[in-house]
Amino acid sequence: MTTTPVNPNKALWEKGDFTRIAATMRESGEALVERIGVTRGLKILDLGCGDGTTALPAAKLGADVLGVDIARNLVEAGNKRAREHGLANCRFQEGDATNLQPLPDKAFDLVVSIFGAMFAPKPFDVAKEMVRVTRPGGRVIMGNWIPNDPTLVAQILKISSAYTPPPPEGFVSPMTWGIESHVVERFAAAGAPADKISFVRDTFTFDSPGTPSALVDDFRRYYGPTMNAFDAAEKNGRAANLQKELEDLFNSHNKSPRKDATSIPATFLRVTVTV
Ligand SMILES: C[S@@+](CC[C@H](N)C(=O)[O-])C[C@H]1O[C@@H](n2cnc3c(N)ncnc32)[C@H](O)[C@@H]1O
Repeated sequence: MTTTPVNPNKALWEKGDFTRIAATMRESGEALVERIGVTRGLKILDLGCGDGTTALPAAKLGADVLGVDIARNLVEAGNKRAREHGLANCRFQEGDATNLQPLPDKAFDLVVSIFGAMFAPKPFDVAKEMVRVTRPGGRVIMGNWIPNDPTLVAQILKISSAYTPPPPEGFVSPMTWGIESHVVERFAAAGAPADKISFVRDTFTFDSPGTPSALVDDFRRYYGPTMNAFDAAEKNGRAANLQKELEDLFNSHNKSPRKDATSIPATFLRVTVTV
């Protein structure tokens, strides 16, 4: 009997239920696709699409959207949401950003990956694949969290990693996708030199009808990286410290005028590559 080895990257995202976090990101997803010039008929690959935070609004603007994600549960959730919204021009399938076969070369006008491909291993392979499937003159747009940025998600990941066992030898931190020199190096190796790449700081806001502490609970129960941090912290009696650090973070960043609601902006690096 043969057993398929566990892919830790896939297991991390299938372990949780990112749809619960994505529910707080809908408005920002809609606003983003408007900002990046999605138009009717554009052929889009949304890579690391989750349940369609950007794929669905792009399809609503008339684009022809394929969402690819490594997590089976999120692909199912995306297809269900597309059906519920009556979007025949939006479909989801499983795939790995490090190897997008069987997707053909030059197939898309726009490859978008918002906090998606940054979480895949082998960043040079990821850049190569994104460039490969983009048509000449098309664009790759990535949204990447920035290491040491003081805003929400960079801080969640920083705090979580302090409680998680050290990664295996050779592991490349996803946060390196938030450093411009690394991005340039990876896309240059994929055939898209520095003068084809531009960077802007952009913002996603996490909106939730509950308190900041309730949102921390959602991250604890559904967001893979935070779940792993709590698993490790529970084993050495530090879960309460982690909970407190995250609650302090979420409360201090909350911009909602209502105490029982949450609205937290987070800064990211938006990368545009013209292929
Ligand atoms: C933080 S979530 C973002 C999801 C979505 N883009 C959004 O904004 O709601 C990261 C996503 O990347 C996906 N992902 C991680 N590694 C991947 C890989 N190697 N190939 C494809 N998708 C991947 C995860 O399954 C997850 O859906």
